[in-house]
Amino acid sequence: MARNVASVMQELAPEDFHLLSGVEHGMRFSEWVNREKLPQFSRLTPEEVDFRLSRCLDRKLVERKTIQYEGVRLRMDGYDVLALRTFAERGTIEGFGVPLGVGKESDVYEVQSYRPMALKFHREGYTNFREVRRERDYTAEKEHLSWFYTARKAAEREYEALEALYPDVSVPRPEDQNRHALVMEKIDGVELSRTRLKPEQVRPILKMILRELTRAYELGYVHADMSQYNVFVSEEGITIFDWPQAVPADHENAEEFLGRDVRNLFGYFERKYPGKVPEIDESELVAAVREGSFEHLAELE
Ligand SMILES: Nc1ncnc2c1ncn2[C@@H]1O[C@H](COP(=O)(O)OP(=O)(O)OP(=O)(O)O)[C@@H](O)[C@H]1O
Ligand SMILES: [Mg+2]
Repeated sequence: MARNVASVMQELAPEDFHLLSGVEHGMRFSEWVNREKLPQFSRLTPEEVDFRLSRCLDRKLVERKTIQYEGVRLRMDGYDVLALRTFAERGTIEGFGVPLGVGKESDVYEVQSYRPMALKFHREGYTNFREVRRERDYTAEKEHLSWFYTARKAAEREYEALEALYPDVSVPRPEDQNRHALVMEKIDGVELSRTRLKPEQVRPILKMILRELTRAYELGYVHADMSQYNVFVSEEGITIFDWPQAVPADHENAEEFLGRDVRNLFGYFERKYPGKVPEIDESELVAAVREGSFEHLAELE
């Protein structure tokens, strides 16, 4: 989301949302929705559709293209607005706040609720669909699989993983999910990549992360994108976030992903804190995490 859709939200009337929902509905059948079908899909009169469509075009919530017919489809901001509206209606969020992080595959914002929370819009497929499809195990169920589908799938998967892991594993508490977005506890901490640990903190922090990965594995998940960018460190400990690509522990490549996670983590610590991290045989460590027994590895004491 290049701009703050919160201000756009305030300008929209219920009929504008009807139009947007109508376009969304039509996109289940074809990427470009025939404009003639919009009165039916959005339950608005043709005159109302004209009016609402031009408002939504002006606000860059939808776009238009003439193919054999005049087609309309949602733009990213239109999809964001629909998800926000749903969260607002459900009472999940009351206000929209500052950006917390803008990644290449997501936009994360602070939102107001009974307390501050984090709202993550997934963007997978919007920028680099091919790469995502190769790396992450999404299957193309539809011919014209659009980014809406990919991003929604990612949000669903992330929410599902958080629900399965919280509170046994230190992950943000999941609050709500809709379309390509999820709302979760806002974590007050610093990304591991941006911390400089004291020498005596290095092993305990590494151990804490491994303990969480072990618990996650016990509960059936491998993170599969473990890095210094997906761990928050605070006074209270560590929190592992960013779970959309998590794979089930019984997945045929689960061990491979687990190995990569452990290797990434150790590699980072070794580079940043040379000599402070024990040399451990990777396969031994992976086996230890898998069996929930890494704490017995003498080297980590
Ligand atoms: N629950 C949260 N509380 C506070 N900040 C968060 C939360 N979740 C994510 N963020 C912030 O948003 C950023 C992006 O989140 P996340 O890593 O989940 O998405 P991403 O698409 O993987 O980003 P990237 O691809 O750049 O790693 C994080 O680096 C973090 O700064
Ligand atoms: Mg991340």
